[in-house]
Amino acid sequence: MSVAIAAKPVTTRDLRARKGGEPIVCLTAYTAPMARLLDAEVDLLLVGDSLGMVVYGLPTTIGVTLDMMINHGAAVARAAKHACVVVDLPFGAYQESPEQAFRASARVMMETGCAAVKLEGGTEMAPTIRYLVERGIPVCAHIGLTPQAVHALGGFVSQGKTDAEAEKILADAVAVAEAGAFAVVVEGVQETLGRRITEAVAVPTIGIGASPACDGQVLVIDDVLGLFSDFKPKFVKRYAELAPAVVEAARAYAAEVKSRAFPAPEHCFGVKR
Ligand code: KIV
Repeated sequence: MSVAIAAKPVTTRDLRARKGGEPIVCLTAYTAPMARLLDAEVDLLLVGDSLGMVVYGLPTTIGVTLDMMINHGAAVARAAKHACVVVDLPFGAYQESPEQAFRASARVMMETGCAAVKLEGGTEMAPTIRYLVERGIPVCAHIGLTPQAVHALGGFVSQGKTDAEAEKILADAVAVAEAGAFAVVVEGVQETLGRRITEAVAVPTIGIGASPACDGQVLVIDDVLGLFSDFKPKFVKRYAELAPAVVEAARAYAAEVKSRAFPAPEHCFGVKR
């Protein structure tokens, strides 16, 4: 298998300029090997706090720490040569004040080498987004179904079903875009709302369970590969089913270890074949 090498790194400015143009392709990545495989195929690699569930087996993203995000962010940023790397700020690291958000973002930027941070929240986070952007930190916003607010939202349920809810989410989108976010992730909303938001804001929308009209799409890589099977949201499309292949390989290895077929002479040092 060959991995394509693309030369020019994608910047947040490039992504911002894609509004209404060719859709932005985004996947999550949490490790260097996966980032290396995906790098040339996507515009944006998101080190999402979904790693709490996908990598660490946590029930939600609430238990993810800033140190976890920094460790995985640094691994992905080291591996990526082309895609724009964006790292999530985890729950509790930015909601208290713009100053707290700046300190967390500065650590993330300095210790990972990523291009931008992502944070969840709408109108209430707009002053924080403005504060960060004015101090040189590019911010991607995340509205709609915001997983860090899972307990407040009453579960992982789609948002914007009533007119009042839809108007609130639309106002959130406008507020974060006007505050300077270079893009807005729109998660788990009614399709018509995803479309309205995309028409209403001047920056790209990146949908996940939103609308094909969004300026880009993002999915969790383990969902795409069929590796994460705890649950499958409606908006997930699996492009591969790798879990059975992993189990099959582990089973074959176990059988060969037990039968002493592995290691064979070619896997041993100083043994003539
Ligand atoms: O944490 C994450 O992976 C995300 C995306 C799925 C949008 O926020």
